[in-house]
Amino acid sequence: MALYGYQEIRTPAFEATELFRRGVGEGTDIVNKEMYTFTDLGGKELTLCPELTAPVIRAYIENNMGAVTPISRLYYIDSLFRQERPQKGRLRQFHQFGAEAIGSPYPEQDVEIIALAFELCVSFAVGKVRVRLNTLGSPAHRGTYLEDLRGALTRYGDQLSELDRYRLENNPLRIFDSKDTHTQKIVAQYAPPLWDYISNEDREHFQSVRNGLEALKIPFEQDPSLVRGLDYYTRTTFEITSERLGAQDAICGGGRYDDLVEELGGKSVPAVGFATGIERLLLAAHERPKEVPLRQPLDIFLVFEPEPASATAIRLAQRLRQNGYSVVMETLRRSIKAQFREANRLGAHWTLILGGKEMAAGRVEIKEMLTGTQKTVSLESIFSSSRGYKQILKSFSL
Ligand code: HAM
Repeated sequence: MALYGYQEIRTPAFEATELFRRGVGEGTDIVNKEMYTFTDLGGKELTLCPELTAPVIRAYIENNMGAVTPISRLYYIDSLFRQERPQKGRLRQFHQFGAEAIGSPYPEQDVEIIALAFELCVSFAVGKVRVRLNTLGSPAHRGTYLEDLRGALTRYGDQLSELDRYRLENNPLRIFDSKDTHTQKIVAQYAPPLWDYISNEDREHFQSVRNGLEALKIPFEQDPSLVRGLDYYTRTTFEITSERLGAQDAICGGGRYDDLVEELGGKSVPAVGFATGIERLLLAAHERPKEVPLRQPLDIFLVFEPEPASATAIRLAQRLRQNGYSVVMETLRRSIKAQFREANRLGAHWTLILGGKEMAAGRVEIKEMLTGTQKTVSLESIFSSSRGYKQILKSFSL
């Protein structure tokens, strides 16, 4: 995330149920049958978050984040809850890693988000993935399409399940989410192609997104049936699937949602984002992530003899941390040899040694682990408040 300039956001575990009804949409599977909803003692209806785009936008509006910067790049890692039948890759409590870029209407932003999601999958070595891409156009032009879709499919209404008839009547786009194979056949055969209803601006936007992905050599395929199961999408939608997963093969999904901020009570601000299912990412990853460092680099390991150096060592570690160094100090009172082994295990850049001899001389020994170069510095110079910071830095340039 740091490579792409995204900052972490944390939102509460539950939100007002109304947020998801309005954000994700009545008629979606999530809102209709998957939310864990309860009433608190004050009679408020609350829901354990089933997704985080709506909560992030709620927080964005409430904290007036748009006033601070015209573009907010945010990411999250969190637990989510959906009442679904558990199976491989589908859990009732699961985890998502996601990113939302709020503020830009331009295709570069769609490309950045898709590239970020794609690179993440690649870095986890998830095998062969497919990027499916579609555009839903702008909702302003969707009215005619929805009318025609309803008109075309209502003829087959008596062949549809009660739920699918409800979808067709109240939220026709959601008919594409149907898991009923008969409905799927009818939709494939008789639904008018959404692409025919897309405006020229929407087509141009889509073309620019495709060009950007081609420039990055990210392979993708256009899939006109990819409407995604949440109501907020406008224009671009995408999903990344892995051949290593079974029926639940989507590692991540996302898209543009230019109207959500306004629908939830904010100004009209465009946005695009994605979320990755962490459990699915791990299921698909055979190897460990390649480029991701598995541990934080450690600046200093502080080796010391408790008698007589304990109090000084504690102060020294604090002083170094106050100056921005990461420091681990021995707390198991192991032998000096064992402490050095630990410094090596942790990959410390420097080891500071504070034994009886050093204490007596009022000095500390600094060793650069990679080169073995050693240097002695007076404790006084490290602790002296005025010159402390510079002196410490100078002491370490061995
Ligand atoms: P979503 O497609 O509902 O989109 O979920 C994104 C990913 O979360 C899925 O591709 C899947 O990997 C994982 N996932 C979903 N449900 C489960 C489950 N029950 N068990 C395990 N993993 C699951 C969203 O949530 C949107 N908020 C994405 C987004 C962000 N769109 C724009 N910004």
